[in-house]
Amino acid sequence: MSGPAEIVVVTNRKGGTGKTTTSVNLAAECAALGQRVLLIDMDTQGHCAVGLGIVPAKDAPTAHSLFLSAEARLADAIHATAWPNLDLVPANPMFEHDSGAGEPTRLADALRGEGLIERYDLILIDSPPSLDGLLMNALCAAKRVLVPFVPHHLSAEGVRSLARVLFKVASGPNPELKLLAFLPVMLDRRIGQHRSVSEGVARQFGQERLLTGIRNDIKLAEAFGKRRPVRAYMPGCRGAEDYALAAREIGERLAALAQRKQT
Ligand SMILES: Nc1ncnc2c1ncn2[C@@H]1O[C@H](COP(=O)(O)OP(=O)(O)OP(=O)(O)O)[C@@H](O)[C@H]1O
Ligand SMILES: [Mg+2]
Repeated sequence: MSGPAEIVVVTNRKGGTGKTTTSVNLAAECAALGQRVLLIDMDTQGHCAVGLGIVPAKDAPTAHSLFLSAEARLADAIHATAWPNLDLVPANPMFEHDSGAGEPTRLADALRGEGLIERYDLILIDSPPSLDGLLMNALCAAKRVLVPFVPHHLSAEGVRSLARVLFKVASGPNPELKLLAFLPVMLDRRIGQHRSVSEGVARQFGQERLLTGIRNDIKLAEAFGKRRPVRAYMPGCRGAEDYALAAREIGERLAALAQRKQT
């Protein structure tokens, strides 16, 4: 892959569905494949910095600086990580959601206006589960949507609610937005419900949009505690294997979508 960057938002309206685990580990896998990767953390929980071992200095610029000043530049908030090709724009845990993210295209304008799209092959955006100005900014900046979901029955409503939001954004402020794929996480194929919920997603959105998935693996949680991607914490564990496969499958899906656009 070579620039301009693919821009992928990792999102689900439900909390705790592996968005941040997926953002950090997918970013690390793609960087290890040689892609220049920028991960942007729009969620004020700020967990991407934890997962990548970055401790931003107090008052250092963050992704959320964009919404506090018209002069703020996203490029000033980029941190190199300990892993080659992998950069992070951390979140500001002190940003008040109520202070609003204003213009829904502030992030999109910064990515394009500052030439970041040319500097990277892949820009991944981790998003908050709440439907607010921050999520809208993420959806307006991205071209592709990756949805990690836990395959139990309660998650179906979260997926439906997200589908409604995506439809609204794609038929309004961001007509380029396309559903990339669904990624089952915390997967246990021995559980019938896991299989039936995943099959339901494939029926509704197309088999080609359902990725193989990430098995349940405590190593993924432990890696966060050790402040590193799982591929660096425990190479060859289930979580590391599954995110490596997901990175390859997502690369193929992105290439297929790009091809379809050309023909
Ligand atoms: N495949 C997995 N196996 C085991 N545990 C996992 C797996 N994926 C994620 N987890 C754990 O599940 C919890 C929620 O994951 P994560 O923080 O990535 O979700 P999230 O969607 O980003 O949550 P939020 O909506 O709060 O931002 C974390 O404790 C994480 O370590
Ligand atoms: Mg998260």
